[in-house]
Amino acid sequence: MSDDLEKIKGVGSSTASRLRAAGFTTVEALAVTPVREIISRAGLGEETAFKTCEEARRLMNFGFVKAADLWERRKNLLRCTTESKKLNEILGGGVETQAMTEFIGDYGVGKTQICMMLSVTAQLPREQGGLEGNVIYMDTEGTFIPERVYQIASKRGLDGQKILDGIIVARAYTSDHQCLLIDHLFKKCPEENAKLVVVDSMISHFRGEYIGREVLAERQQLLNQYLHKLLRLSEAYNLAVVITNQVQANPAQFYGNPERPTGGHVMAHACTHRIHMRRGKSGTRVAKVIDSPYLPESKASFIITEKGIEDSEKEAEEAEEAEGQSQNL
Ligand SMILES: Nc1ncnc2c1ncn2[C@@H]1O[C@H](COP(=O)(O)OP(=O)(O)OP(=O)(O)O)[C@@H](O)[C@H]1O
Ligand SMILES: [Mg+2]
Repeated sequence: MSDDLEKIKGVGSSTASRLRAAGFTTVEALAVTPVREIISRAGLGEETAFKTCEEARRLMNFGFVKAADLWERRKNLLRCTTESKKLNEILGGGVETQAMTEFIGDYGVGKTQICMMLSVTAQLPREQGGLEGNVIYMDTEGTFIPERVYQIASKRGLDGQKILDGIIVARAYTSDHQCLLIDHLFKKCPEENAKLVVVDSMISHFRGEYIGREVLAERQQLLNQYLHKLLRLSEAYNLAVVITNQVQANPAQFYGNPERPTGGHVMAHACTHRIHMRRGKSGTRVAKVIDSPYLPESKASFIITEKGIEDSEKEAEEAEEAEGQSQNL
């Protein structure tokens, strides 16, 4: 992380202070923000903004890179444990940094439980599967429950109070508010040493506020813009972004699963890994990777307990497998 804006060629103290006042406090933030946005938020002239952005990207080594260098960059990638071996396995070891992972599913399936669980495990040391950082938790539905997080932490032998101290909660009341908070993340994440950003749920305000076909395009455009901001955030600061999404019934579909994630193509394209969740046999939950650039399409079952997320018992898994085979899911 580099907060020395004056290091950027051509940026003096006055430009730097305008940039900082607009929330661009690091070279990383400038390198990943579209120039138009820098102009409108910091009030810089077009030429200065273009040059500043270009120099920031040069400092960050953005631009044409060899695949070998890209690989090198990806070696810094960290994975956050869910504490379910099976779920970790289908995620390639855990929830990744430099990526956005989306958990999709019906109400009560456990999306928020996973988010709260990760808010605990992200704070663990790396050798225990954590990200050794703090968490910024954007709650759009008022379902972040500190008592539950405390319970998960203490049942796992951790200091619940300390874990709660490591989670910064931002309650977003409207989609505008949510967007504003996401804009602040570029400043807040390095300040708070955040290694996990949760947005639970990404889309509910958008769906509730933009009603009707005439505003659909506008909604999707805004959603797209903010999803990409989150993705850039994850790359700029090597952190994990986890978002949740609901499903809606598709009455036109006769075969297969009629549930489909909300948010359409915009959501599907922006997210790195998409994980669908459903209820399984004997109270288990089944997670399935449905879209990912390199994770295979595979399933894992787990249970929700007072310790958060855990691997399910053998019998429950066998029942689930038998059910899956008979339904050919
Ligand atoms: N302390 C606990 N012990 C065991 N199970 C729990 C505990 N707390 C919550 N659960 C389980 O988690 C479920 C709620 O999951 P969660 O709130 O994560 O759903 P969600 O997918 O976020 O739904 P929504 O779309 O409504 O936000 C409950 O139905 C319950 O089965
Ligand atoms: Mg929820």
